[in-house]
Amino acid sequence: MTRLLPTELSAYLEALVPKRSPELQAMEVDARKTNFPIIGPTSGHLCYLIAKMIGARRIFELGSGFGYSTAFFAKAVQDNGGGVVNHVVWDAKLSKKAKRHLSALGFNDVVKYHVCEAVEALRSAEESFDLIFNDIDKEAYPDALPIIEAKLKPGGVLIVDNMLWSGRVFDPSDKSPETRAILELSHMLTASPHWTSALVPIRDGLMVAFKEPK
Ligand SMILES: C[S@@+](CC[C@H](N)C(=O)[O-])C[C@H]1O[C@@H](n2cnc3c(N)ncnc32)[C@H](O)[C@@H]1O
Repeated sequence: MTRLLPTELSAYLEALVPKRSPELQAMEVDARKTNFPIIGPTSGHLCYLIAKMIGARRIFELGSGFGYSTAFFAKAVQDNGGGVVNHVVWDAKLSKKAKRHLSALGFNDVVKYHVCEAVEALRSAEESFDLIFNDIDKEAYPDALPIIEAKLKPGGVLIVDNMLWSGRVFDPSDKSPETRAILELSHMLTASPHWTSALVPIRDGLMVAFKEPK
């Protein structure tokens, strides 16, 4: 991932994030070593803040990895009085690894694990959610939106990662399917009367979208 923000600005923003536990810091080190794309502390903290502000107790993550982003949502759900964060990834090894980390962080009471394709898992969920976080393969972003919209409660919040895609979204020569899909999702969210959204340009860009109550 190309860093879009100047190094000094990134470091300044990161320094404003409350100190993470040794377990979370170890996850950050692991992600750096293995080049695994976690949302990182600044975006993670914003996710925590939003989930906390809206009092989220039912959260669905699409594309959870080894549990780093999940940890921020799980903390918010605990602070909000308890509930469920659905950790969904199609790789059983990653799910197991996430369980180890999230248990060590004390989130056993709020995290539910699913090893499967995330959009199908959301489609078959019986309940609706206060907050949905999307970090799956980027080509799948546009097709996931109608299902997300159906499963998010009115007044719920959608957060989508990588909406700046290392700056490829403003490179007119980039015609890759991932970049097109991200641009398409941006258009779907910003043009729809059902959503009010803003792209927060931290790290790789977090789209924060509010589902308008009808
Ligand atoms: C970007 S990483 C997730 C990082 C995580 N959100 C974090 O910040 O800690 C996306 C993960 O979801 C998996 N994934 C991608 N598309 C998926 C899908 N449609 N269903 C389930 N898992 C998916 C990828 O294999 C990868 O492990």
